[in-house]
Amino acid sequence: MSHDLFEAARGAMKFAHAPYSKFPVGAAIRADDGRIYTGANIENLSFPQGWCAEPTAIGCMIMGGGKKIVEMAVIAEKRALCSPCGGCRQKIAEFAQASTRIYLCDEAGVAKALTMDELLPFSFEAEILG
Ligand code: THU
Repeated sequence: MSHDLFEAARGAMKFAHAPYSKFPVGAAIRADDGRIYTGANIENLSFPQGWCAEPTAIGCMIMGGGKKIVEMAVIAEKRALCSPCGGCRQKIAEFAQASTRIYLCDEAGVAKALTMDELLPFSFEAEILG
């Protein structure tokens, strides 16, 4: 069931620190340990120092002991189907598989499901780096 992930992402969005863009974003990960980890975007007066909701959630997952993203939801109150930015796609891919589903939400729930492969096709791979 993805509705619990939607609700977790929506709840996380309330913690956004987005005084500059005024564009709160929430993210929720169901990890391989069965737990849900959440995040919001955290901006900074020095604009490039802010970061997105997705890496906040990834950081919480890693520090909570989760190792892999089983599925993930993203929501923005000002934009239905808010899609992870390019940098976030690469960050998500680090802990996901090609088939991992990413849910884009509107105010009612999950509105679109994409696989990681659809979200980040022809992604960077370098066996030599491990
Ligand atoms: N943002 C996210 O949190 N995730 C994304 O994937 C896209 C953008 C945030 C960054 C910034 O705080 C605000 O949305 C406007 O770009």
